[in-house]
Amino acid sequence: MRKKVFAANWKMNMSLWETKSFFKRLRDELEDMDEEALIIVCPPAILIPQAISEVQGTAVKIGAQNIHWEDDGAYTGEISAKMVRDSGAKYCICGHSERRQIFEESSETVTHKADRALDNKLIPIVCIGETAFQRDNDETMEIIREQLTATLHGLDEAADIIFAYEPVWAIGTGVSAEPYDAEQAISYMRAVIREHWGDLADSISILYGGSIKSKNAAAFMSCPNIDGVLVGGASLDAKEFAEIIEQGLRA
Ligand code: PGA
Repeated sequence: MRKKVFAANWKMNMSLWETKSFFKRLRDELEDMDEEALIIVCPPAILIPQAISEVQGTAVKIGAQNIHWEDDGAYTGEISAKMVRDSGAKYCICGHSERRQIFEESSETVTHKADRALDNKLIPIVCIGETAFQRDNDETMEIIREQLTATLHGLDEAADIIFAYEPVWAIGTGVSAEPYDAEQAISYMRAVIREHWGDLADSISILYGGSIKSKNAAAFMSCPNIDGVLVGGASLDAKEFAEIIEQGLRA
């Protein structure tokens, strides 16, 4: 049985003070939660140590939003998987569409990063998804196959890797995919994973991300292939994020 996963991507948001008050609220909201879920919060790198100390004694895990593909070296401004792991974080988002588009990361770069994350015992959350232009040209499945295959080719089988289907046009727009379409895309992803990694495909978690809120979380989480959600904007509010978790667990 795959665990339900709720991952928060804060992007370049939140101060130290806001981080403390977010986790205080989240701890209060989750106090009575008895169902098992994997909850991962990915703050900006500079807030990771504070986030780690805030989640001590809870089941909430912390992740980074990005890493470099080398462990150390002359890469001004970058942080490595080794550093993230040292800080106590356990996860790392790789290949978010904002990294692919704004920072021009190729699927090859994303794969190097995921590989380096795994080498350092960090679990990568690898994001893939099509742009509006590609969707309008009926290229969704082709893009999924292309981005996913690049990563599956470049990695050894990794049972605990997490994938996320994040259609670019749904990110931060308030317009989510239709749950049915997301389920189609994600079951296709599982089929592509099966082609490369065989039955391991059944144990790999695949999330949906793009304008998830407490109002629509259950509709996605009740689809058989959607194991969880990757939440951007709505994860900045601890009460709303907790509500997403609650709705998702009930689905
Ligand atoms: P959103 O972002 O929930 O604000 O659409 C999702 C993401 O970027 O992972």
